Amino acid sequence: AIALSPFTNEITYLVDGDCAIVTRQGAEIIDFSGKPVKRERQISQATAYVVDKGNHRHFMEKEIYEQPEVISHALSHYVDFASKTVKQADTAIDFAKLSGLAISACGTAYLSGLIGKYWFERYARLPVEIDVASEFRYREIPLVPTQAALFISQSGETADTLAALRYCQQEGLKIGAVVNTRESTMARESDAIFPILAGPEIGVASTKAFTCQLAVLASLAVAARKARGTVTAQQETDLVRHLTEMPRIMSKVLNSIQPQIEALSRDLSRFKDVLYLGRGTSFPLALEGALKLKEISYIHAEGYAAGELKHGPIALIDENMPVIVIAPHDRFFEKTVSNMQEVAARGGRIIFITDEKGAAASKLDTMATITLPNVDELIAPMVFSLPIQLLAYHTAVFMGADVDQPRNLAKSVTVE
Ligand code: G6P
Repeated sequence: AIALSPFTNEITYLVDGDCAIVTRQGAEIIDFSGKPVKRERQISQATAYVVDKGNHRHFMEKEIYEQPEVISHALSHYVDFASKTVKQADTAIDFAKLSGLAISACGTAYLSGLIGKYWFERYARLPVEIDVASEFRYREIPLVPTQAALFISQSGETADTLAALRYCQQEGLKIGAVVNTRESTMARESDAIFPILAGPEIGVASTKAFTCQLAVLASLAVAARKARGTVTAQQETDLVRHLTEMPRIMSKVLNSIQPQIEALSRDLSRFKDVLYLGRGTSFPLALEGALKLKEISYIHAEGYAAGELKHGPIALIDENMPVIVIAPHDRFFEKTVSNMQEVAARGGRIIFITDEKGAAASKLDTMATITLPNVDELIAPMVFSLPIQLLAYHTAVFMGADVDQPRNLAKSVTVE
């Protein structure tokens, strides 16, 4: 729909097995048995956006800087900025009655789901089963109809995620799609649609879709908490206030950290291996940081739960492998700092991504310390995504890589 948007905003989607014969006079559609069929003509949303790079060198850079604006737009669908309350985005899934939630996705979307799991469990006391879709679809997971299933996908077309969705449908679960494309197959096959409203994302490495997915999942976790009666009015106001402050904080961060990150990227580009560490929601963020760096700069990177350092990766630590530690001053801070000390004691170089309180509390020597504003735990993953994305971006640009079209990767993977 995006590719066709300069020519038309009217789109007809074929169903699996359909065939269309296109002539100057129009299109005739037949189904798998050869019978002529009518398929609805829809008005595509894709024309609402101008898809160009603006003043940016790459789509990825543009999409990184667009985040405050698109997140604000996404949030307005899920929360009421004036009354500081959550809205019921789609009533097809009733969070109050659920015994659990199953989440599945691929790539970056899976990592946003992993952060979502922390939120649904902590804030809404809702148990979450999560797996990458390529495993989920074959695991024959025992599911019950009192669970609902959420599928997260920027495109709404990823083959493995779609297969996992259909598996859950057969098991009788209510299906929710957290998608960027409302006309996508996943959206069409779901009971509830939770749009992330990020606008077209062109860079293969996902940035704004990731943070918009997070904004939606965070809002849904607060909504689930409210539906399940585990939130007071004051707590709801506080959580929503943090969410609504987020776009402003993200703008501030984007306006301040770029020169430091660009300089640091030059240093980082000299290394062949990089390790990312984090605890709590910073653990999936460490996985996302490593994924972003490896997919666009081709530097080998791994993300690890900070507590797992001693169970393996510590053997690799030396001056040739920088360790990027993501540690806001949260409940886990002291523990993560003690992991950092283990790295420092072995001559490892540390790039410390923290907040003002964290920077003041840590006395360790680092290769660089990136200091962000102090923010509530709920919004830290979105705010901390920014230095991670910019670090990968500038490292790849410095190394001369094709940032928007990394080798061997596709934006949407519609094969298994
Ligand atoms: C591809 C893309 C990733 C994306 C993943 C899932 O691998 O390169 O950026 O995270 O697919 O795509 P989806 O459209 O389902 O979010």
